[in-house]
Amino acid sequence: MKRIVHVLAIILAVAVAVPAIAKGETKMAVFGTTPDGVSVPIYTLTSGQIEVRVTAYGAHLVSVRAPDRAGKMADVVLGYDSLAGYLADNKTYLGGIVGRYGNRIAGGKFTLDGKTYQIPTNDGPNALHGGPKGFNQYVWKSEEIPGGVEFTLVSPDGDMGFPGTLTAKVRYTLKGDTLRIDYTATTDKPTVVNLTNHAYYNLHGDDQGNILDLKMELNADRFTPVDKTLIPTGELAPVAGTPLNFTKPEVIGARIGDDYPQLKIAGGYDHNWVVNGKPGTLRTAAIVTDPVSGRKLTVETTEPGVQFYSGNFLNGAFTGRHGVKYEKHAGFCLETQHFPDSPNHPDFPTTTLNPGQTMHSTTTLTFGVVK
Ligand code: GLA
Repeated sequence: MKRIVHVLAIILAVAVAVPAIAKGETKMAVFGTTPDGVSVPIYTLTSGQIEVRVTAYGAHLVSVRAPDRAGKMADVVLGYDSLAGYLADNKTYLGGIVGRYGNRIAGGKFTLDGKTYQIPTNDGPNALHGGPKGFNQYVWKSEEIPGGVEFTLVSPDGDMGFPGTLTAKVRYTLKGDTLRIDYTATTDKPTVVNLTNHAYYNLHGDDQGNILDLKMELNADRFTPVDKTLIPTGELAPVAGTPLNFTKPEVIGARIGDDYPQLKIAGGYDHNWVVNGKPGTLRTAAIVTDPVSGRKLTVETTEPGVQFYSGNFLNGAFTGRHGVKYEKHAGFCLETQHFPDSPNHPDFPTTTLNPGQTMHSTTTLTFGVVK
């Protein structure tokens, strides 16, 4: 009898312990309450050794914990540990979903079907990341789905000057060591849309200094040069022979201070690279490795471009998790996207969305290790 009880106890213990590791799971908790009294959930997704947290506020990616080559865990995405942190920061877009139009629209102005629309400007003369109140500042509806969470935001007709009621959905699902982000959008009037995630990564760990010694490879032979307000000139220029050439793994900080006009304009890297291969198909955009910890991030996307931003505007104004002030280059972003200012560049891949169409894009983030 004693032995049977013992065996049963083992079976029970295994049954309880195994699913959490093998199958992965999602747990919900309350992240905080907005000033208008809305309770905001945060979800923890676990799979294998990776733990991801996402919140309904701005559909932010709050944290990703990943092992180094010795199995030591660290947070590799910058973030705040409370909702209050996100509410107080409408400058850095730390892990938020940016929209309705990620990146810049020149003068905040574009014309669609003969009608001109004006988005309020919030970045010098331009509109950035959807204008002063972008999608990163709303509480999205959330629903648990297999392997993760789906967030939904309905942006009304005229929101920040954009035409059409836009229903945006962002799904975060975790499988093995890959976090997959699926974006969809539908509209009831012709509009423009460009959604991306604005996570800042630091593969050393979110409290371990800057990203300048990480090595990065971009699957991109061309980039879109910008004018002095960071609006594309319209040209697709080769990266060959410039400090923007990452076709082979290069140390991020090695050429960042070069006397090269495009780097001077942006105070570092803040450009859109044209991802090689066919837009609409999932292909590698970037591989970043940390020679110290061995952590490796691989980004794949269906999007035509990726904005590599080296955290040039971080200036210590915001204090993140672990009490760390986020200084210049504390993290880097890889914002998979359509090209900036596409509504004013008819020869760029279109960002126009019409009623009856569904915009769908996918980006995957794989957290591995190298020897
Ligand atoms: C994007 C832009 C940058 C900057 C950041 C937010 O990466 O391209 O210029 O605005 O967002 O600070």
